[in-house]
Amino acid sequence: MALENTPSNTGVSETHQNKKMKIDTDQPENNMLNSTNFEPKNLDISNQILSKNNIDLHADPEIPKNIDSMENIDMRGITIAFDDQAGSDANETNQSFSERTADMERYDFYRKVLKSPKYIVAPMVDQSELAWRILSRRYGAQLCYTPMFHAKMFSDTSNRGYYNEMWKTNKFDRPLIVQFCANSPQSFVDAAKLVENEADAVDLNLGCPQHIAKRGKYGAFMMDEWKLIEEIITHACANLKIPVTAKIRIYSDISKTLEYAQMLVRAGAKLLTVHGRLREQKGHKTGLSDWEQIRLVRENLPQVPIISNGNILYFEDIENCIKYTKVDGVMSAETNLYNPALFSNKLKTNYEMATEYLQICKLVPTKISYIRAHLFKLFKPSLPKYVDLRTQLANSKSLEEMESTEEDQLDEYGYKILPHWYCQPAIRREFDSKKSVGEKPLGRSIVPISD
Ligand SMILES: Cc1cc2nc3c(=O)[nH]c(=O)nc-3n(C[C@H](O)[C@H](O)[C@H](O)COP(=O)(O)O)c2cc1C
Repeated sequence: MALENTPSNTGVSETHQNKKMKIDTDQPENNMLNSTNFEPKNLDISNQILSKNNIDLHADPEIPKNIDSMENIDMRGITIAFDDQAGSDANETNQSFSERTADMERYDFYRKVLKSPKYIVAPMVDQSELAWRILSRRYGAQLCYTPMFHAKMFSDTSNRGYYNEMWKTNKFDRPLIVQFCANSPQSFVDAAKLVENEADAVDLNLGCPQHIAKRGKYGAFMMDEWKLIEEIITHACANLKIPVTAKIRIYSDISKTLEYAQMLVRAGAKLLTVHGRLREQKGHKTGLSDWEQIRLVRENLPQVPIISNGNILYFEDIENCIKYTKVDGVMSAETNLYNPALFSNKLKTNYEMATEYLQICKLVPTKISYIRAHLFKLFKPSLPKYVDLRTQLANSKSLEEMESTEEDQLDEYGYKILPHWYCQPAIRREFDSKKSVGEKPLGRSIVPISD
């Protein structure tokens, strides 16, 4: 039985449906990860707005600010020293590295290791990087996934470049699930071995629908290779000390989705994330996530922690989703990128979030292309107002350039440029007899103040 994505089974109101952006999902090409997607016209305001606003990063006492310090971070962002002061915090957030958690009961793992997360940041290529995870955790994220890493490249001993560039974490970056795409049992284990001392689980990507995944035969294109998936998971469960999880898409036939989920659990998956879209739902065909199928997966697998993915626009959608589907947690990708404070249920300005993110990037080395992509998304609503500043952000090649501010940037008539959300001066225009009032402002009269 194919389920239609009607408002009733997606759990999303008409209004939300209309607002939902039809951008897909599981990967770079359609998701601004590819720099060619950042046309200048879509780029956003820069710098001057960011550092004009002297944001107090510690202003909100409810938000933990336990960001690692520079001394504790090596060039890959990996903690190199555990100081005593931070020790108690670290014990709170980190599993003991020697503990074998792979054999734990599913809900023991979910509760004791993952700490029963309800608010979850999705794996996002080039976007759920360490700095972004730190920001998201400050604003309520209780579990984060790394971006998807290519298992074979990650574990390639003849070339450590990819591993060194991709793998960044620190002692506060927990609970953490590292996601890999793989189509061979050994490459998945080889890659997972490299992170099993610093992560709480490894996830197999079974959802990526992009052409690159089709060519590489991984992600959602493994949906036709159940035997292989089973082998990958079984082999990993036997060889890793941390649990294996999986992130899946659905089939149009619910009974096939259920059979698929059961197969994954039989193979040893300790937790399933269900993205309620078909493999074909990408690009302009993305549509809505099917909460009814997610609800049925939940109902049929009561022994397995289930995370729902899709259709989260506002904080209240999270509770709606849990109420409807009875899942344990809710994962957000796209909305988390536009609103990293989603899980805190707080309204934040985009420049506050951008400033705080840039502060984190100063401590945690982050690729400039990731930063740029984040800023474009954060500032998307402001783009139309700051057409002339888009190129500036697009062309920034360093963190300093991104942040560097023209504190006193003036427009061509000498007026300070203020973001549109600030109260503005009343600027008088020159009188033009034809139009009653002309375009040109009168100009600023700057009179030196004498003592
Ligand atoms: C920028 C971006 C990158 C993504 N990269 C991954 C990825 O690495 N692994 C994965 O399983 N899904 C990836 N996805 C898909 C999301 O994890 C998620 O399944 C999808 O976007 C639906 O959730 P949403 O409706 O909250 O956006 C990506 C999505 C976006 C927007």
